[in-house]
Amino acid sequence: MGAGGSTDPLPILTSMPAISATAPGKVILFGEHAVVYGQPAIAVPVNQVRARAIISARPDQPGGSIHLQAPDIGLESNWEDLPQDHPLVLAIKGVLKATGIEIPPALTMRITSTIPVAAGLGSGAAVSVAIIRALSKFLGRPLGEIEISELAFEVEKLYHGTPSGIDNTVITYEKPIYFMKDNTDNEGKMEAFQVSRPFTIVIGDSGVPSPTAAAVGDVRKAWQNDKNRFNAFFESTGEIVNQAKGAIETGDNAALGPLMNKNQDILKEMGVSSEKLERLIQAAHQAGAPGAKLSGGGRGGNMIALATPESARHVANGLIDAGATGTIITTVEMQQQGFKVGE
Ligand code: MEV
Repeated sequence: MGAGGSTDPLPILTSMPAISATAPGKVILFGEHAVVYGQPAIAVPVNQVRARAIISARPDQPGGSIHLQAPDIGLESNWEDLPQDHPLVLAIKGVLKATGIEIPPALTMRITSTIPVAAGLGSGAAVSVAIIRALSKFLGRPLGEIEISELAFEVEKLYHGTPSGIDNTVITYEKPIYFMKDNTDNEGKMEAFQVSRPFTIVIGDSGVPSPTAAAVGDVRKAWQNDKNRFNAFFESTGEIVNQAKGAIETGDNAALGPLMNKNQDILKEMGVSSEKLERLIQAAHQAGAPGAKLSGGGRGGNMIALATPESARHVANGLIDAGATGTIITTVEMQQQGFKVGE
């Protein structure tokens, strides 16, 4: 990461067009929670929902002035009036440090997102990635994916405690990943892998907000109280993840349903499921899904069910009838690498 030290405001053109960047949501297919303890996990981007940062220059204002608008969370403020550990401020500070720019030209940053908050779909990491991408581009020093993911991870760490790094990674790279946390404090290791045959996932929202940090903190306490039991959960989860990776790579999609169910059994034992999630999982099975599980931190948030293009709508309807507040049907396939800047 560059650390320069330019103090001169950058020159700006009054006709400078707005710069925007987006980042997708994500779901964890296999391995949440265990991934925090060094086991692998598999995550995929969800392109139907996205966070977006749009930056426009304010040439009438003094350098260094950043006006933030995030209407989805009712926020409108100058950045210096927000707490210095606010995630939006942390993301901006990270970009300024990485680009070596101390005084950015005055700007307005508008942040919008269609990713439900506290729902296990990575909304926080997606907002960070969109901001980092858009701001570094606006400053004329676009950061690469490694730096973007690292900076978003720093925000996650300060804000979420002990994240594995899987969210910022899958959201930055926008492709299915097999991920393993580094046992240092650094970002983990990612492997892109082949999805031989596309498969369909139905995502169902329990409508119950559940901040990931709380669920991760509770699992940590439970692990500290009974390390043998929880280490065994984590190891069995790791085996399931590796079997699932093999199945996805060989196109053995029929194996995925039972593996999801096994993963869910362990998550339930870990104490991160809930009555509502169990109801939705059962409804998915009743609608013919061969596998279903919670996704992300659990307790509330979203669950996923395996489906086919033909059965997906039926499964989604079953979830709505059982009380889901929303569904997304998504296809997991090898996705084109690349991200969207300046659309
Ligand atoms: C969050 O998407 C998944 C968890 O495993 C937490 C993490 O990996 O940081 C619950």
